Amino acid sequence: MNLEQLRKQRAKWLEWKNIKPLREVLENLKEFDKYEYFLEPTDWLTLKSNSNLNNNEKELLEKTAKALIPWRKGPFDIQGLQIDSEWQSNKKYNLLRPHFNLKDKIVADVGCNNGYYMFRMLEDQPKRLVGFDPSPFFKTQFDFINYFAKTDIKYEMLGVEHLEFYEHKFDFIFMLGVLYHRSDPISALKSLNRALNPNGEIIVDSFMIDGKQEVALCPAERYAKIPNIYFIPTVNCFKNWLNRAGFVDVELIEITQTDSDEQRVTPWTFEQSLDHFLDENDKSKTVEGYPAPKRAYLKARKK
Ligand SMILES: C[S@@+](CC[C@H](N)C(=O)[O-])C[C@H]1O[C@@H](n2cnc3c(N)ncnc32)[C@H](O)[C@@H]1O
Repeated sequence: MNLEQLRKQRAKWLEWKNIKPLREVLENLKEFDKYEYFLEPTDWLTLKSNSNLNNNEKELLEKTAKALIPWRKGPFDIQGLQIDSEWQSNKKYNLLRPHFNLKDKIVADVGCNNGYYMFRMLEDQPKRLVGFDPSPFFKTQFDFINYFAKTDIKYEMLGVEHLEFYEHKFDFIFMLGVLYHRSDPISALKSLNRALNPNGEIIVDSFMIDGKQEVALCPAERYAKIPNIYFIPTVNCFKNWLNRAGFVDVELIEITQTDSDEQRVTPWTFEQSLDHFLDENDKSKTVEGYPAPKRAYLKARKK
């Protein structure tokens, strides 16, 4: 199947019975066509227009955004409506911000979710910005935000596995929160490598475990209640994966311990978040008895 056929096939996912009603809800947004919106790439990704909404419009906006709960990534402020997402994604973005300059680059965000990072990356004026995420639900959240932002970010309902067959290569690829969901992490990193232009760069993160050894934890079933977590490496193991996938200049940007400031329940999320995923008597462990979530962020360059 070529790229065009794949796109057509996946576009049909927007008609699934749980997604179609949400696509219909987006029709409400036509009511806001009379306003012009300006994007401010701040921590609360803000969309503002010059005139205020009346009470009916405020209600409609809120109703439409609430139909798209759960908001995992954000936060967003649309004309005063504050969508306080489960994750304060601004923390991750701000941590990485000093480590890239996307000016005039062709950029991919793999596992882009609703596009929060990409909307912020616009501040660098990249040449092209493409988000990859196979989820029709997150694509619908992206379409909601982009209805106001009217950016030319391209959202592809494709995965990391399609990246190397894409119609062009990239200068910079972000892949955050995805690697531990891949059963073959080195192959996933090789795909990123093949999708890069010469000297292209990546920033990638992973859950990690402490230790100097070059080993990875393979959870029995779930990790912090999350299904499909395959390998959780030490930093040294993670660096080896990158080297073995053809990257050089591998640099550890930062290690962070996820806390309930960064990931928590809000009125815009599911009813459970980090606090429910940790052992209630020992917050250094997950409910399954594994080390609590810690992340390593690495940057590397294609040889
Ligand atoms: C844990 S979230 C990470 C979101 C965001 N990148 C971040 O770091 O906050 C993982 C994302 O990967 C997406 N995803 C699932 N399968 C994928 C695949 N095969 N390729 C790329 N992304 C995928 C999910 O839909 C989800 O949005």
